[in-house]
Amino acid sequence: MLLKITDNIKYLGVNDTRDRLFEGQFEVPNGIKYNSYMIIDEKIAIIDTIAEGFTEKWLENVEKELCGREPDYLVVLHMEPDHSFGIYELTKKYPNMKIVSSKKSFDLMKGFFDTDFSQNGIAVGEGQSLCLGKHVLEFINAPMVHWPEVIMAYENTQGILFSADAFGKFGTDNEVEEWADEARRYYFGIVGKYGKQVGAVLKKLSKYEIKKICPLHGTVLEKNLDYYVNLYDTWSSYRYEENGVFIAYNSVYGNTEKAAYMLFDILLNNGIKVKIIDISSSECINAIDSAFRYKYTVFCATTYNNGLFPSMREFVTDLFERCYQNRRVGIIENGSWAPTASKALKNVLNQCENITFFETEVRIFSSLNSDSKSSLASLTNEIICDIKESNIL
Ligand code: FEO
Repeated sequence: MLLKITDNIKYLGVNDTRDRLFEGQFEVPNGIKYNSYMIIDEKIAIIDTIAEGFTEKWLENVEKELCGREPDYLVVLHMEPDHSFGIYELTKKYPNMKIVSSKKSFDLMKGFFDTDFSQNGIAVGEGQSLCLGKHVLEFINAPMVHWPEVIMAYENTQGILFSADAFGKFGTDNEVEEWADEARRYYFGIVGKYGKQVGAVLKKLSKYEIKKICPLHGTVLEKNLDYYVNLYDTWSSYRYEENGVFIAYNSVYGNTEKAAYMLFDILLNNGIKVKIIDISSSECINAIDSAFRYKYTVFCATTYNNGLFPSMREFVTDLFERCYQNRRVGIIENGSWAPTASKALKNVLNQCENITFFETEVRIFSSLNSDSKSSLASLTNEIICDIKESNIL
């Protein structure tokens, strides 16, 4: 049975549990949901469509909920193909239906479908509305959350926000993980670069009385909405969630790993919240997620080709691209004859906004010795003092 949002708002979405990478790069071990909705009133509006491979199943859902009627409108909030693949099939099936979307979205449709849907469409934007009878949808521009054409729609009778990609998450109905874990991974993977734009939309949304959020991925949110909105505020402002330490390391022969775990153990024994990831054996997005979650990150990096090991280079570049900022950072570098990992890391991190470095930098020549152990102890003390001080403040 399909999920009911309200008596007159139906869920049409599909779970994708195929074993593949989302957007060609993100592991989704628990799958992903492509959400789509239908509002039934004097007029019927379908909100967004579906990804490739699910059109048939989705059209079955559409037909079932239409109960013999025809849709009057297809509202396209976001033109990315994980939500828009069904546009062509739906317009073929219901040629009298009008597409309602942003002007930019109609431009993108031309690129994807080689068809000018604006001829029989309605372009809408900030503050404009679509009346379906009792239900009225008011549109809110949400550029770069996550593409430039994105709009959201606020429904007046029940206070439902159709939020496009925002407030979405990886995972399907069968997920076991916390909402925040998969939503954070999704947020920083997909829209992390656009914090300013997300913040601007959150500001606009604060004037609406929102009772339910219907995103294009993941769970329909109905309780404790402040929790989700506050997390989005934290993420989009690049504030940390945990006053603790994330240790990201790569290691070729195990010596950098040993130093990373030495730091991890001492911090843990001092009651500090700490997480460690071998970035060569974990998907990069997991490390990105943790770097944004924690106040402190310690990069434990080996020198490679007079620079950074590939996984570390990818990690720090991905952080820079996602506007990593407002964090305090430690560096442990390793190099057998000419360590340059720290310099390479700083080349990137110095381009990020408001990154400060711990004074002690640990330099290892191949494996820990008494000198490097001593500087590791200094770095550890600095981190502990900093955390204790900020806990007192
Ligand atoms: Fe879920 Fe930006 O598409």
